[in-house]
Amino acid sequence: MEKTLTGTTALVTGAGSGLGQATALRLAADGSRVAVTELPHLQERAEATATMIREQHGVDALALSLDVTDLANITSCVAEVAAFGDGRLDLLVNNAGMNVLQPAFDVTEEAWDRVIAVNLKGVFFVAQAAGRVMRDQTPNGGCIVNIGSQFSFVGYPGRTAYAASKSGVIGITRMLCVEWAEHNIRVNAICPTFVDTPLTRPFFEDQDFKQDALRRIPLGRLATPDEVAAGIAYLASPGAAMVTGHSLMMDGGWTAI
Ligand SMILES: NC(=O)c1ccc[n+]([C@@H]2O[C@H](COP(=O)([O-])OP(=O)(O)OC[C@H]3O[C@@H](n4cnc5c(N)ncnc54)[C@H](O)[C@@H]3O)[C@@H](O)[C@H]2O)c1
Repeated sequence: MEKTLTGTTALVTGAGSGLGQATALRLAADGSRVAVTELPHLQERAEATATMIREQHGVDALALSLDVTDLANITSCVAEVAAFGDGRLDLLVNNAGMNVLQPAFDVTEEAWDRVIAVNLKGVFFVAQAAGRVMRDQTPNGGCIVNIGSQFSFVGYPGRTAYAASKSGVIGITRMLCVEWAEHNIRVNAICPTFVDTPLTRPFFEDQDFKQDALRRIPLGRLATPDEVAAGIAYLASPGAAMVTGHSLMMDGGWTAI
């Protein structure tokens, strides 16, 4: 049976670990050839993900160096992905992200600028570069999935810059949905609760924090990277052909309370 993404080319940013790696592997399992990126000094992680894709799923994979705050790097990287896809780029997962935990009274300009540069400016300009390829290819069109957060919608201490960036990601998602629908480009967001990844694992060693977080999740546990990747794979699939401008909560019910 043909897989849902056979014949497509995908780009997943920040795919050397955590959610990005799980997503890249899931899209490959669904038949997509996948370009994965990592920061220049973490390039061996992108190579490792590409090797896993080839060995586990038998599809082509390409590892590239990308700092999403560097516009020239974005331009050259997306051009390489389009060449890898024989001129096509069908799917972008804007996954690269970071956080600096600081109480609002103590937020520094440096931390604010860094979080906004990676999580908001980076998301937009990678989408712009990928969207241009999707607009100009024949047949035109594609799918972009941005990674928001439950903190795009609800408050929690210590995450002002992160929440500002992830709320902005929802705004970008809606605006690009409206502007790019005529080019057959769908743009959606995934908004997870805490996911068990290298980013969050150290925080959950604090048992008070862990109990507080779990108490707020009706399903009573963290999300897994594979669960979030399944949501992304759904939005990327032909089954979601009529879904655009949507933010899919994958929060175990946190925002329903
Ligand atoms: N883990 C969670 O609980 C959680 C919850 C909601 C949303 N998210 C979001 O999911 C995404 C993935 O997070 P994760 O938990 O897998 O974390 P992670 O730290 O494992 O992965 C983030 C990746 O982004 C890369 N990255 C950081 N700065 C970059 C830059 N300037 N340019 C390019 N790549 C860069 C990192 O090297 C890393 O590979 C992020 O956008 C994060 O905000 C995570």
